[in-house]
Parts: sequence; structure tokens; C-alpha cells
Amino acid sequence: MLLMKDIIDDGDPRIRQISKEVSLPLSKEDEDLIIKMHEFIVNSQDDEISERYDIRPAVGIAAIQLGIPKRMCAIHVPTYDEDGELLKSDDFALINPKIVSYTEKKSYLKGGEGCLSVNDDVEGLVPRYAKITVKAYDALTKKDVTIVARGFLSICIQHELDHLEGKLFYDHINKKNPLQPIPNAMAID
Ligand code: NI
Repeated sequence: MLLMKDIIDDGDPRIRQISKEVSLPLSKEDEDLIIKMHEFIVNSQDDEISERYDIRPAVGIAAIQLGIPKRMCAIHVPTYDEDGELLKSDDFALINPKIVSYTEKKSYLKGGEGCLSVNDDVEGLVPRYAKITVKAYDALTKKDVTIVARGFLSICIQHELDHLEGKLFYDHINKKNPLQPIPNAMAID
């Protein structure tokens, strides 16, 4: 299983590399990798496993965070109701994901973003598209998928897709005034 020691941080120049397209059908090696990445994210949200292996909770990971410049990322975004009951879970193991459309309207996470490759908290609002449509091959369902994402999931996918371009969330933060309100943007909890 993947552990925190496998993850490179933003002090490593590889995090800025642009990842390369993955050939399909997936090789056994690439399939094993993306499945392990997804498992890592699920583990990171399991109280017992994350504590035992000291894994920082996360909702997504891109291959470049393991130092592997391939266009793949895994996402696990559960949705709970007020009582903490699981309502649904958005799970993807995306290969060659592409944003094919997006809204003009923006959104941002109220508390800012975090990243497994960024060790310190970085304060600031990160402008994202409020709604995106993404096409990719999904290694969990073994199908080409078209994902229409809004709210938190939309932000999470954009964060991961940025990694494929060598970008980090704090690149988008207003340097002079990190908390400057973003026009026409929806705040997401
Ligand atoms: Ni990240």
C-alpha cells in the first residue's frame, strides 16, 4: 500500500512537471498504480487506518505526487447528511481527464484548499469554476466517463487536474490579498 513517504512535496521540482498522456488500454502497471492511488485516498479517510499509518486525510491524489508524470488521478468524495450518515460517495480513478466545458460562475472553498504535497497550511481563496464537465477513462468502472461536477467535487477535480499541469492550489491565490473576495463566486463549505 502507498504511504505518506511515497508522496513528494512542493520542495521537489518534479511536482512542477507536466504529466504525459497515458496509453489505453491501460497496462497492468498503470492499472495497479491508479487502483493503489484510489485505495490510498480511501484509507486516508478511514480513522483507524489513517491513524495507524499516519496518513493525512485527503480527497484526491495525482500520479505526479508520487513522482510519476502520468495523467492520472484518484478521487474519493463522500457526502454525509447532518447525522453523519453516508449519503453517497463520488469515486473516480481518472486516466487522461480533460475539462470539456465549464461555467463562467466561480466557486471557492471557504476555508481554502490543502494538498498532500503542501506541508504547511496556506491561507487564501482559490478561485475555481463552479461547474465543470470532464471526460476521462475511469479505471474503477473500466469505462469512458463524462462527469458533470458542481460544488466541492468540482473544486476537488480541478485541484487534481492542476497537478497534471504542474500547478499547485496556491498558485491561484491573490498574492497581495489572499482573502480578497472573488467576484461572481459561490462559497463552498
Ligand atoms: Ni494536491
